[in-house]
Amino acid sequence: MAKIIVSTGRGGVGKSTFVALATKYLHPPMLLIDLDPDESLAGMLGIDLSSHGKKTISDTLYAITKQNKASGRTGYDVLDDVLQQAVQSDCIYSSPEFDLITLGTKFTVGCYCAPDAVLKDAIPALAQGYRELLIDSPAGLEHLNRKVVVDIDDLFVILDPSQKSLKHIERVRAITAALKVGCHHLHLVGNHRFTTETEEQLRSTGGAYLGKIDFDPAVRQRNLEGQSLLDLPGNSPAALSVKGVLQKAGYDIKQGD
Ligand SMILES: Nc1ncnc2c1ncn2[C@@H]1O[C@H](COP(=O)(O)OP(=O)(O)O)[C@@H](O)[C@H]1O
Ligand SMILES: [Mg+2]
Repeated sequence: MAKIIVSTGRGGVGKSTFVALATKYLHPPMLLIDLDPDESLAGMLGIDLSSHGKKTISDTLYAITKQNKASGRTGYDVLDDVLQQAVQSDCIYSSPEFDLITLGTKFTVGCYCAPDAVLKDAIPALAQGYRELLIDSPAGLEHLNRKVVVDIDDLFVILDPSQKSLKHIERVRAITAALKVGCHHLHLVGNHRFTTETEEQLRSTGGAYLGKIDFDPAVRQRNLEGQSLLDLPGNSPAALSVKGVLQKAGYDIKQGD
């Protein structure tokens, strides 16, 4: 059974960057799950899913819903078919280092309940085949409300230095408790905007603060140009910070990195 690792936080704090860089240090086999409809994680890893013939969960769901409508079936009764397709690796990009599955963008009216439900149902079976499931979340807390994952081993809350971020920590605690989302470890991680003083404030919240991710101009540049973060040099300040945070959370780092 895989360890379930989730990166969460407000918009633009560095959640996807954290997940992309964590793949450099964790041991395969690992499955990355991009729950953000903006699909930025694949790009950060230098992957063009469609050129590998892979579809997102939303695309697969849309195609199957259309087929089923034509044959008179509607609504949630289509989910089993989608699930099978997804598990049969229509949606799973595979490489020696990691596999990747993406929620994707919906180009139809409506919420993300159905594609989220597909993933929620698929996750327990998927978790059997991997050492880690590494989940990149959309901004905010809705993914927790939807209980896409119900038993999290390590929840990394990525924070920017703002009152809103401090409130975000309280909301994460309240929602996981109220909804009974199992969360074995809740880790606080400062983003690249923290200073020594603002870090002190974060420490005083009493949570498990693991440190900050250092500012790295190469990360900003690569994200701007749509290049992979995986080829950052070994001395990248951001990558080394992510490595340190994972070590503090008790992860065994891959040899050679
Ligand atoms: N350590 C860092 N150093 C410099 N820029 C960073 C760093 N981490 C993230 N960024 C920048 O912050 C922006 C948001 O990062 P991203 O990981 O996409 O956030 P999120 O997934 O939380 O929305 C991106 O433009 C990215 O280049
Ligand atoms: Mg993101």
